Amino acid sequence: MYRSHNCGELRSSHIDTTVTLAGWVQKVRDKGFVVWVDLRDRYGITQLIFDGERTEKDIFEQAQKLGREFVIQVQGKVIERTSKNPNIQTGDIEILVDKLSILNESLLPPFTIEDDTDGGDEIRMKYRYLDIRRDPVKNSLIFRHKVAREVRNYLSDQGFIEIETPYLIKSTPEGARDFVVPSRMNAGQFYALPQSPQTFKQLLMVAGMDKYFQIVKCFRDEDLRADRQPEFTQIDCEMAFVEQDDVLNAFEGLTKHLLKALKGIEIDDFPRMTYDEAMERYGSDKPDIRFGMEFGELNDIAQHKDFNVFNSAELVVGLAVPGGNSFSRKEIDALTDWIKRPQIGAKGLVYCRCNDDGTFKSSVDKFYDQADLENWAERTGAKAGDLILVLSGETDATRSRLNSLRMELAERLGLRNPDEFAPLWVTDFPLLEWSEDTQSYHAMHHPFTSPKHDQIDLLETDPAAVRANAYDLVLNGNEIGGGSIRIHDRETQALMFKHLGFSPEEAKAQFGFLMNAFEYGAPPHGGIAFGLDRLVAILGGQETIRDFIAFPKNNSGRDIMIDAPSPVDEAQLKELNLKLDL
Ligand code: AMO
Repeated sequence: MYRSHNCGELRSSHIDTTVTLAGWVQKVRDKGFVVWVDLRDRYGITQLIFDGERTEKDIFEQAQKLGREFVIQVQGKVIERTSKNPNIQTGDIEILVDKLSILNESLLPPFTIEDDTDGGDEIRMKYRYLDIRRDPVKNSLIFRHKVAREVRNYLSDQGFIEIETPYLIKSTPEGARDFVVPSRMNAGQFYALPQSPQTFKQLLMVAGMDKYFQIVKCFRDEDLRADRQPEFTQIDCEMAFVEQDDVLNAFEGLTKHLLKALKGIEIDDFPRMTYDEAMERYGSDKPDIRFGMEFGELNDIAQHKDFNVFNSAELVVGLAVPGGNSFSRKEIDALTDWIKRPQIGAKGLVYCRCNDDGTFKSSVDKFYDQADLENWAERTGAKAGDLILVLSGETDATRSRLNSLRMELAERLGLRNPDEFAPLWVTDFPLLEWSEDTQSYHAMHHPFTSPKHDQIDLLETDPAAVRANAYDLVLNGNEIGGGSIRIHDRETQALMFKHLGFSPEEAKAQFGFLMNAFEYGAPPHGGIAFGLDRLVAILGGQETIRDFIAFPKNNSGRDIMIDAPSPVDEAQLKELNLKLDL
């Protein structure tokens, strides 16, 4: 028996019992006459004491030589500590050791295994197995497990069935590039790793497996950000015989359950907002609604007043920064510089101070009088003490810039409270999106999304205006899930492919299997997929998903611990019928 208890378990009720513990040496404090060792495992830390008078000499000397992260086993008696530590659960006791064996030595770790480590990101990734010994990472992984367990239990209780779908598949277009896998047995041919199990879950609906779910890895070769990894996990779900409301209600139920079970928070019905409304009010399809700062459109009250910048703009839009009148001129100039950076790309920023005495002072006083500015304040909801910031230009770009500014200010003003949760459904997304790169339309969600019934004809005349039965679940400004009601008849699916620029032959070659299935009694169906990594991170109060993934990739998509990707040898390439010509 390696251990009778773990390192987080012993309390004063155990005093006078003899125990055996095993774990890692967190810290050694050698006072000459007494050595204290903090012994750590997954469950906690227990203090060991080696006493020059009470411990045998050779064990005492061995203890003095222990290094950080040595793996040891000790046997000893639980005794009451003279100076108790209320900060740890085992803080009332310590173990007076009488047997010590070193199970394994350790090199000096390249960073400290402490909550606040001295290790940078790269070194922590390289030695991820050491990083996971630290509480913040360890606890994030444990939290992830709890979320996944709640999801499985809840959905199973609601009658959902978890079904695995294959990883070696044919490419599905979900907007990112595929990772491909060469087939040895089929020379010159490739599998693709799934960007999601989308087509398979639809086939399961045709197969009659109503109410499917799967906690599943997905693979997307896309540029990485804090909330994106090339391989990530979805809670993928699909239901048959449903309309949009049925899906939203079912997964609002799941989300409410998770908030209650994991955070103790009860939330009433989630607000719902159309895509168009979200863009108008927040300039984003994933607005953070934990704080106000909603957009106020000023065209009718700010144009035709001799200020050419506004007069020539498609949109003039502003927002009120709460308490922003306290910003110095220098701070406002810095904000202007921030928003003029190429990443954001605004040409300038107009501001208006709302003074406590009810007067206004703007950067465009030459063109606007107090009554005009009062209108601005009314439109943006600005109160005395606030600062109104206004941008103008082409509609989409201007909204997007003001959204960046809104999020940046909220961050700086501490308005994004990680302990507060504000979910929101965004519905009625556009079906298609124009791509400047390819000069063509592509599906905003994916090609299997159903257009709104009464808008199918619009596909011919005004494709950009067609709205889809597609929805996202947004939590604190992050898209944590997305789904849609699907097309379930061959004709509409064929029409959709046509509008996405597929010839009938191409559509058949790529999606013939799905179109064929639709001819064998496909039920109406729809579903959603949550990003588990994102969901866990946000519930855990963070927006970076990396620490909630045991072995994540870095920003260049590399696993620097195992050094992947890496070249393969000639023989392997030959067997795969591949020739590299770099
Ligand atoms: P979608 O592409 O919106 O929908 O993906 C669903 C959710 O997965 C998460 N997500 C990611 N998380 C981490 N890293 C990534 N690279 C990444 N990409 C996406 C997001 C997102 O909301 N098949 C459809 C679902 C459906 O229609 O049912 C799909 O995959 O949180």
